[in-house]
Amino acid sequence: MLKLPGLIDPHVHVREPGQTHKEDWDSVTQAALAGGVTMILAMPNTKPPIFDEATLNLALDAAKGKARCDYAQFLGAGPDNADWDRHKGLPLRAAGLKMYLDSTFGELRLDDMTLWMPHFEKFPKDFPIVLHSESRTMAAGILFAAIYDRPIHIAHVSLKEEILLIKAAKEKGIKVTCEVCPHHLFMVSQLTDEERGKKKEGRDEVRPRLATQEDVDALWQNMDVIDCFATDHAPHTLEEKDSENPPPGFPGLETLLPLLLTAVSEKRLNIEDIIQKSVTNPRKIFNIPEQPETWIEVDESAEYEIKAENQFTRCGWTPFEGWTVKGKVMKVVLRGKTAFEDGKVLAEQGYGRNVRQSCKTSPM
Ligand code: DOR
Ligand code: ZN
Repeated sequence: MLKLPGLIDPHVHVREPGQTHKEDWDSVTQAALAGGVTMILAMPNTKPPIFDEATLNLALDAAKGKARCDYAQFLGAGPDNADWDRHKGLPLRAAGLKMYLDSTFGELRLDDMTLWMPHFEKFPKDFPIVLHSESRTMAAGILFAAIYDRPIHIAHVSLKEEILLIKAAKEKGIKVTCEVCPHHLFMVSQLTDEERGKKKEGRDEVRPRLATQEDVDALWQNMDVIDCFATDHAPHTLEEKDSENPPPGFPGLETLLPLLLTAVSEKRLNIEDIIQKSVTNPRKIFNIPEQPETWIEVDESAEYEIKAENQFTRCGWTPFEGWTVKGKVMKVVLRGKTAFEDGKVLAEQGYGRNVRQSCKTSPM
């Protein structure tokens, strides 16, 4: 049995408030624990989006009553909520600020760069701004980080040109970190270059889109540039995914560690990579306190097939259905209490703690 620290997933779509038929704070934290994840950072593109005190309270109240693992909630950058200097307490209660600069699910997209400026200026520099930015928009985001001299964290890097750009920016000393999702490391687009972006992708619909083998290879070759693994757990129901216009997104909390451990068994990764990118680095980047007496126990030699019917996520499917993996989460201990064992979630609703509740870091 292999013992690892509890994993941190810095990119999770909880869907509560507003779309609890897809997922809620109860089901998502059960999925997290079953996946060996003891802390999730929740994205703000809910219904309504989380962008001010009232909506932050809405999310945190739901989380307080239902979460079974630890968590923090992101604020979303909108066109007119950049006066963070006047609401100093708010950023301190959040995981950080999420800016959607490219096509996404929900209402939070910011197209005009004049709308980016006040957020870069005013959001406290102790917490990173997380960017959904692809390709050239990412280059613009990195320029903003350089101009405003503040940390940014780039979500779900998927392309060769992106990882190479981030590598170059890091070499210049720009404060940029990044994350990569399992689906961009393990799945390749089924479409040709001409078809991608035009043809419907059905269940494979996800943003950023699945990329080419060359892109996937570039991510693996630049593993040292990748700071974090993040699932971008984005549950939509099977009915929605199989509809005429499927929303983008994959569930991922329960498949993250089995996929990574399978890569370890194939000698494509090592255990230290997992600890660094799923525990140490996210803790540093997001200024997260250590979780005392928290660990997971994993059977590295257990081989099995991934099946949606065995998952805790409410969405009822996985893009990895039928994949054979090697490595199973057997037990999760969270702050001294067994939270998951033998396929059962034991932590109760409300056991999860908001890790920003007792945050003492001073703003700016
Ligand atoms: O595939 C995606 N799903 N990309 C996003 O940017 C949003 C996410 C979601 O919330 O469903
Ligand atoms: Zn996302």
